[in-house]
Amino acid sequence: DIPNLKDVLADDFRIGAAIDDRDLVESSGQLLSKHFNQVTAENHMKPDAIQPTEGEFTFGAADELVEYAEANGMEVYGHTFLWHTGQVPEWWFQYPEGHPNAGAPLGNSDEDRQIMIERLEAHIGALAEHYGDRIQAWDVVNEVISDNNAEVYRHSRWYEIFDGPEYVHEAFRIAREAFDAAGAPDVKLFINDYGTENPGKRDNLYNLVEDMLAAGVPVDGVGHQTHINLNTSIDQIEESLLKFAGLGVLQAVTELDVAIGAPGEGEEFPQLEARLIEQGHYFRDLFAMYREHGDLLESVTVWGLHDGRSWLRSETRPLESPLVFSDTLQSKWAYWGIVDPSALP
Ligand code: G3I
Repeated sequence: DIPNLKDVLADDFRIGAAIDDRDLVESSGQLLSKHFNQVTAENHMKPDAIQPTEGEFTFGAADELVEYAEANGMEVYGHTFLWHTGQVPEWWFQYPEGHPNAGAPLGNSDEDRQIMIERLEAHIGALAEHYGDRIQAWDVVNEVISDNNAEVYRHSRWYEIFDGPEYVHEAFRIAREAFDAAGAPDVKLFINDYGTENPGKRDNLYNLVEDMLAAGVPVDGVGHQTHINLNTSIDQIEESLLKFAGLGVLQAVTELDVAIGAPGEGEEFPQLEARLIEQGHYFRDLFAMYREHGDLLESVTVWGLHDGRSWLRSETRPLESPLVFSDTLQSKWAYWGIVDPSALP
């Protein structure tokens, strides 16, 4: 019997996995509850899953995850209230039913902004009331920083409608009020993004969080998604942790995967085993660094229970293997890199 990740890391931080309802049963469910003490819903708590139609809330699959977590002594990390992708339903950016422009895209007048604020209040309010502190932390906003370091904020539809980044502040104020009203003032409010290891993007995120803190906006933590690969500098990941530590905010690694660079469909990949060993060494070094800074980290979450469930795995990339357990739920070198580096070749 191999050691449990959650016991190995017990003194350092919680270890989480992104999951959906498929992962709760049979051998997947056994692997999940053996190794992990936190879960994130990979998709079930996103806006399109929770409120597909305005005013109609569907908590079913999310409830299943929360109940599973409670039954297995795990915490739950909520993901996410506000995002810019297709997983925010289209109605959210349109005039509501009963409005003269019903169904047309919102502009950026005061009235339009007010519609967006009321929608945030209704959405976050419903989740706060439904879950209270059964979900211990939430990504309040996801991916609001631009990949173009010169423009700072992603020019999403949120940004366009608010004609600036004020919606980020509003979302945090609304969330804090909603959780206070629900009797759950200790729920932690995070801002989450990818690429936080890249100095330009990191600094833009840092400045935003610093400004929010100075303005009294209730942000508790920074989530580092950490979708990386074997060439990503661990020193830069560490520098980012240390930089945000200076702000005194909580931090979490929210969506870790380490791509090995597997080629497209039908292409030869004789280096597969060598890359998996290299990945073991990478996880060894990465987790050694994370554990050294365990006091700065609430949790480290891998974005998928096993390689077969990774968002990076597809028909066109059938061999990508960025996680800790294999398709067949076996421990990879990545696992041994975390648990017992002396086992690595
Ligand atoms: O549920 C439908 C299904 O009914 C339909 O038949 C099928 C056909 O395509 O699609 C299914 O929805 C898919 C959904 O995952 C659930 O499996 C969507 O197409 C697919 O786009 C969606 O992908 C998710 C992606 O976010 C969406 O942007 C990935 O699973 C999820 O891992 C990924 O997670 C994001 C984080 O939320 C934020 N950070 C980046 C990360 C990776 O992209």
